[in-house]
Amino acid sequence: MSYAFYKIMHMVGLAFLLVGLGAVLMASYTGQMQNKKAKMLGFAAHGIGLLVMIVAGFGLAARLGVFAEFPKWMIAKMVIWVIMGIAISVMKRRPQWAFGSMLVIVGLVGTAAWLAISKPF
Ligand code: HEM
Repeated sequence: MSYAFYKIMHMVGLAFLLVGLGAVLMASYTGQMQNKKAKMLGFAAHGIGLLVMIVAGFGLAARLGVFAEFPKWMIAKMVIWVIMGIAISVMKRRPQWAFGSMLVIVGLVGTAAWLAISKPF
């Protein structure tokens, strides 16, 4: 698979992840967490997104030829990926943190993009 393929896959994964987080954030914020349909849509999109993103991230690293050296910026992105994974349970349990959670997620996406683009370390 080509670099372009993995790049698009990485972005599609990000779209799934953010749709999932947004759905759970809204369900929680509006007191709809007991709505099984809304909950399942959010959790499914979040899980698919995480999986697709990490596979594509490693695919990108392989195409860039940095998989073996595993640079620190990639480790930092993996930490962000883990935080994004945990974030959904925080959103579910803490509707009162909805606004802050949203800002943290947006900040993390920006940081992950910056890490990939400028590779600071
Ligand atoms: C949820 C967290 C993540 C977000 C929001 C994210 C976001 C992004 C974005 C926006 C880009 C495009 C940058 C560009 O235009 O060059 C990118 C590229 C990339 N990401 Fe991620 N990413 C995440 C997680 C990961 C993980 C876990 C890995 C490694 C396993 C990874 C590896 C890469 C690589 C290798 C590139 C390509 C860099 C390049 O083309 O020079 N990302 N990511």
